Amino acid sequence: MNEKKAFIRSVGRFVPERRLTNQDLEKMVDTTDEWIFTRTGIRERRILEPGLGNSYMACRAARECLERAGVEAGEIDAIIVGTVTPDMLFPSTACLVQSALEAKRAWGFDLSAGCSGFIFSLVNGAQMIESGRHEKVLVIGSDVMSTIVDYEDRNTCVLFGDAAGAVLLEPCPEPGYGILDYIHRIDGAGGEYLHMKAGGSRRPASMETVQNKEHFVYQEGRQVFKHAVTEMAGVSVEIMKRNGLEGKDIAFFVPHQANLRIIGASAERMGIESSKVVINVDRFANTTAATIPLCLYDVTVEEKRVKKSDYVVLSAFGAGFTWGSVLLRWWE
Ligand code: COA
Repeated sequence: MNEKKAFIRSVGRFVPERRLTNQDLEKMVDTTDEWIFTRTGIRERRILEPGLGNSYMACRAARECLERAGVEAGEIDAIIVGTVTPDMLFPSTACLVQSALEAKRAWGFDLSAGCSGFIFSLVNGAQMIESGRHEKVLVIGSDVMSTIVDYEDRNTCVLFGDAAGAVLLEPCPEPGYGILDYIHRIDGAGGEYLHMKAGGSRRPASMETVQNKEHFVYQEGRQVFKHAVTEMAGVSVEIMKRNGLEGKDIAFFVPHQANLRIIGASAERMGIESSKVVINVDRFANTTAATIPLCLYDVTVEEKRVKKSDYVVLSAFGAGFTWGSVLLRWWE
């Protein structure tokens, strides 16, 4: 087995200044703070100033991440951006970030996996390090959900926010630490429950698609909820089991932040007590690919709660369907 594992050397984030609270939404659609909070756990979300685009947020998060590590952009070997809201279909957000950061040596690409975008990107980045061909890989999760959400549709507009998070991966100096294991899955049959109807090659943008509001998130919430609970908990339990770990051994469970009830059900099945579950859905809502790095930022940078040797489980579920779980043993 290859002993060269990747570890998360540093974390950065960007959250836009503008807050959109549940009370603000009460004035926009037929909803209440009480409904939103009891169904989802969300109190407010952040909204990016129009016109800035995904790469703006991704770069802000990346810069903070690099500064924290004391690493120059010119040292980066690769950039992976997990997103479903790129600045444009092409060039990729990774190219725009590479150019803005002046990361002259880097190659990279965008990865589309909905709310699993960050963990899928993280594992790709880790494997680049494990291959021995890369020393510094920047992994970013960034989404401007406000640009694809219909603020006249109460079913979806209350759920999402904008943000970006970035991590720098490097080879772990000590065996037994870093990104140890992952289980990732997809099931395209779930696509019918969560997708964007137009804007791709099958149904390009037209007057009709705009009038029909086909460029917004389409979601059948109940179906997504049902699958998310089963699948996210399933892989999280599986990854613990196959590594000989129980709930008591895990220091932090970092789940995708879509809904407090999905998170609670997963933690319960994993046997993880609530104090170890990282939550920020109340402050930022569902920021798609950014939720997990934002949570990592909370526990590492803001609260400094993660210690060397801590086992951390990251888990996500998203459009596709996509889902997965990553096991880390913290090294710093
Ligand atoms: N305010 C008030 N009422 C609302 C509302 C809102 N913002 N949004 C929906 N409702 C209504 C619905 O119209 C429905 O009314 P009806 O029964 O008269 O038809 C009722 O509330 C219940 O809707 P339902 O969809 O059953 O609620 P729910 O308990 O499943 O919660 C979600 C809805 C969206 C919060 C929940 O399904 C969910 O979180 N799903 C997963 C979403 C997700 O994770 N997506 C991202 C991919 S990871």
